[in-house]
Amino acid sequence: MQIIYHGHSFLEIITEGWNILIDPFITGNSKCDITLDYYHDKHITHILLTHGHSDHVGDTIALCQQHADVAVVAMVELCQRLESKWVVHTESMNIGGTYRQEGRSVKFVRAFHSSSNPDGWYAGLAAWFIIKLWDKTIYDAGDTSLFAEMASFAKYNLDVAFLPIGDRYTMGLEDAVEAAHRIGAKTIVPIHYNTRDVIKADDIEFARQVMLHNYGVPKVLRAGQYVVL
Ligand code: NI
Ligand code: MN
Repeated sequence: MQIIYHGHSFLEIITEGWNILIDPFITGNSKCDITLDYYHDKHITHILLTHGHSDHVGDTIALCQQHADVAVVAMVELCQRLESKWVVHTESMNIGGTYRQEGRSVKFVRAFHSSSNPDGWYAGLAAWFIIKLWDKTIYDAGDTSLFAEMASFAKYNLDVAFLPIGDRYTMGLEDAVEAAHRIGAKTIVPIHYNTRDVIKADDIEFARQVMLHNYGVPKVLRAGQYVVL
C-alpha cells in the first residue's frame, strides 16, 4: 500500500479496496501539491476526519460533491453537521469505536485537542486513528498534545506513525520526539508544520533527534512523497 503526504495533515492511503483521504485540506493549504481537479477522475472510497477544524475538514464537501458515493467517517456530531447541509453518506463514530470492513479497520481514540466547525458548531471530541489495513498498522495522531496513554501503544505494533510537530496548536518538536519514544513505531513521519508562520518547525532536527535516540526510523516527506508499506 501507498500512503501519500499532501502537506499539513492531509494523507492519502491507497490499498486493496480502499482509497482513503484523511483530513483533505487542499484549498488554503500552502504546502499542498495537488488541486481539487486531481481527484476528478480518481476513485475515493472514504474520507476520514480527525476533527472539525477547517484545516482538517478542508475540502471534504467539495470532494463529496465530486464523488457522490464516498463515505465520510467522522465523529457523530461532525457527521450530523455535514449531513444536515452537504454530505450524503456519513459513517458516524464515537471515541473507542472501530469502523470495520473485511481485513481493514479504523479505531477512533480521543486526541487531546478541541473540535468545532468554522462556524462555531460543536463537532464532538477530537480523535486520532489507529488504522489497520491487512497486516499493517498506521497511527495518525491528528492534532494532539503529548499524552500519557501513548506509553501503552507498543501493543499496536505500529508500522508507521504520523505525528504533528508544528507546536502552538499541537505538540511541538520536543514533545513529538517524546511521543515517538512512547509509541514505538517503526517509521515516524512529521506532519502539521510549515503551512503557516506560527507553526514553523525544523523537520530535519526532528528527524535527527528521533534517529539519535533510536525511537524509530524518521522519514521527512515533502508534499507528493509517500511511504510504501
Ligand atoms: Ni485542530
Ligand atoms: Mn490543525
